Amino acid sequence: MNISIIGTGYVGLVTGACFAEFGMTVTCMDTNPQRIHQLREGILPFYEPGLLELVKKNVQEHRLHFTASLQEAVDHALVIFIAVGTPSSEDGSADLSAVEHVAKGIGACMNGYKVIVTKSTVPVGTATRVREWIQAEQPMASRFDVVSNPEFLREGSALEDCLRPNRVVIGTDSPQAIAIMKDLYRPLYLIETPIVITTPQTAELIKYASNAFLATKISFINEIANLCEAVQADVQIVSKGMGLDNRIGSKFLHAGAGFGGSCFGKDTAALIYLGEIVNCPMHITRATTQTNDRQKQRMVEKIQLAVGSLSGKTIGFLGLSFKPNTNDLRDSPALEIAAALLAKGATVQAYDPEALDEACLSIPGIHPCEDAYQAAEGADALVLATEWNQFRHLDLRKIQSLMQNPTVVDLRNVYEPLTMQNMGFHYISVGRPTVGHPSASVSTPSSSPEFIELTPS
Ligand code: UGA
Repeated sequence: MNISIIGTGYVGLVTGACFAEFGMTVTCMDTNPQRIHQLREGILPFYEPGLLELVKKNVQEHRLHFTASLQEAVDHALVIFIAVGTPSSEDGSADLSAVEHVAKGIGACMNGYKVIVTKSTVPVGTATRVREWIQAEQPMASRFDVVSNPEFLREGSALEDCLRPNRVVIGTDSPQAIAIMKDLYRPLYLIETPIVITTPQTAELIKYASNAFLATKISFINEIANLCEAVQADVQIVSKGMGLDNRIGSKFLHAGAGFGGSCFGKDTAALIYLGEIVNCPMHITRATTQTNDRQKQRMVEKIQLAVGSLSGKTIGFLGLSFKPNTNDLRDSPALEIAAALLAKGATVQAYDPEALDEACLSIPGIHPCEDAYQAAEGADALVLATEWNQFRHLDLRKIQSLMQNPTVVDLRNVYEPLTMQNMGFHYISVGRPTVGHPSASVSTPSSSPEFIELTPS
């Protein structure tokens, strides 16, 4: 089957490469000619493990093509996926201008039956609007169907999520479109992937409800972590004990610096906005976002408490991307925390395996380092903000010998408190008891009004 994907951003490019791997002939279209040129040369606009190899393989085998022409993309395909951005507007609503532009363009180019699929995360009711936008631009009426087929892939493990998804959601009112979409996803039948077939509105809401629920799990465990600190309990064991209940599940119960990325913030805001306009307030989702904002502030306070006062201190900082295995800095808790440390007068010497250059461009005050050890050199504290695998296996003796004070603030609970204590570190993590002692050279905490004692003494 011939398909086209409009938009070569994260979702579009991964989807295109995966459908090509399934054996479809795929045309990926983008209005940015430079990006198309680079993709043809085998240069990807972002980092995703395994994607470059998959793109190169499918280009070589003539199943994956790139074009800047919408007409070519429409002519080529029976199924056209819209995978353009839907950023947050000021009021939290999703900005659909790119989707509108593409839908109108497809309408203007259309010359026969097509299935138009929204892959981007779009508000409930968008399928109806896409139909209207296409109809309005058609030079002569030709039949088409609209399908909502939300994407659930995670950055960093996008290929696995796309090639072996937990489920596929297909939202449409057309039996013909259902048959075509099922055909498209036939390779997944072999691995018994459940397919949920429903209306467009329900499919659209499944995506928002899923992301909001996952975000809620994270904020919930972060609140429990804060409570653990107050009552000397250990959030990792609480999380394990909860997660063993099949009804709860162990995933997305890792306490840390808060959630980030391009999706959770935007999608929770859009769900809250939708609730407001239909007079059905999303109280839990609102609380989830507030807890997340507060969590990032708490992390800054935690670091401040560890070093006494941030002014004039040197902080080694590990990890800047919003999570490991991606260079994406959008809504990154690590980046926000690094910026807050700088604002409070600290020197931040940071290392990230993939996101360092871009982070330094967006926050020029950051001192870039070549590796974790350079970041630790002369530091009053080392902050582990994003849990890249390479930070799980640091030579801690070397780290200790390089630092001014052996204080580690582990915002992702990567290390074991007992091990760190035995090695002589002053070790602070999230929702677990602080161990070891601050170096004698640490001055007493400043009495700033927002300063909160977070860890048990
Ligand atoms: C998220 C969803 O997980 C995907 O299913 C969805 O397709 C995607 O949004 C989207 O809407 O496009 P993603 O943003 O790539 O995927 O990242 P996640 O792996 O979900 O992580 C989000 C954030 O939550 C990260 O900052 C991560 O560090 C944090 N997190 C995750 C925690 O703090 N604790 C956890 O237990 C899990």
